[in-house]
Amino acid sequence: GRQLVVAVDGPSGSGKSTISRRVAQALNARYLDTGAMYRAVTYAVLRDGVDLRDAVKIAAVAEGVHLTIGTDPAAPHIAVDGVPVDREIRGAEVTGAVSAVSAVPAVRALLVAQQRQIIAEAERIVVEGRDIGTVVAPDADLKVYLTADAAERARRRSSENATNQAATAADLARRDRLDSTRAADPLRQAEDAVVLDTTTLGIDEVVQRLQHMLDKVM
Ligand code: C5P
Repeated sequence: GRQLVVAVDGPSGSGKSTISRRVAQALNARYLDTGAMYRAVTYAVLRDGVDLRDAVKIAAVAEGVHLTIGTDPAAPHIAVDGVPVDREIRGAEVTGAVSAVSAVPAVRALLVAQQRQIIAEAERIVVEGRDIGTVVAPDADLKVYLTADAAERARRRSSENATNQAATAADLARRDRLDSTRAADPLRQAEDAVVLDTTTLGIDEVVQRLQHMLDKVM
């Protein structure tokens, strides 16, 4: 049959990952977490001791690194040069540096090309990130933009990481600002995206609404 691509964009803590994985499982589709790819390159940048202000060196690390991406929505997986980094990429060090690395245009060009390749090879796929509906897959069958109140997003993230909520709120605000104001492919809602505010909607309800929308496009 025809290919199915679902694009899910939005800021951190909007419920993107949980919802994208659930929808992918329900569709028997693949799941691509593009944030994990930016985090994996950031892991390599920190591993190599590169200065975060040095865009040329950051781009060189991105070019030299080999990413292995597992797209099973039940068990997503990523490795850098053959080394699994699923836990490391969620740590404070990577989270603090990822916006600087993802702002480098050469890094984005490389990762967007890899993402398009993975999408092209899939029969059905749910792709989550910041620029999926606008840049990576502008022809997606369904584009979803998830939002939530900043306070609610911080609450979700701090319960995930068991860190302090005020620090998490400050970190989220900083990343949102960097991700939305960068010159290269900033976080932006696609004109034809369906916007869902998940502040008060439960996960199940959002997943159900998306499945309903998908029934219409499939
Ligand atoms: O989604 P997640 O919070 O894991 O993304 C981590 C970071 O990766 C974001 O803050 C953003 O800087 C970057 N990112 C991006 N474009 C994407 C996905 C993530 O720039 N498509």
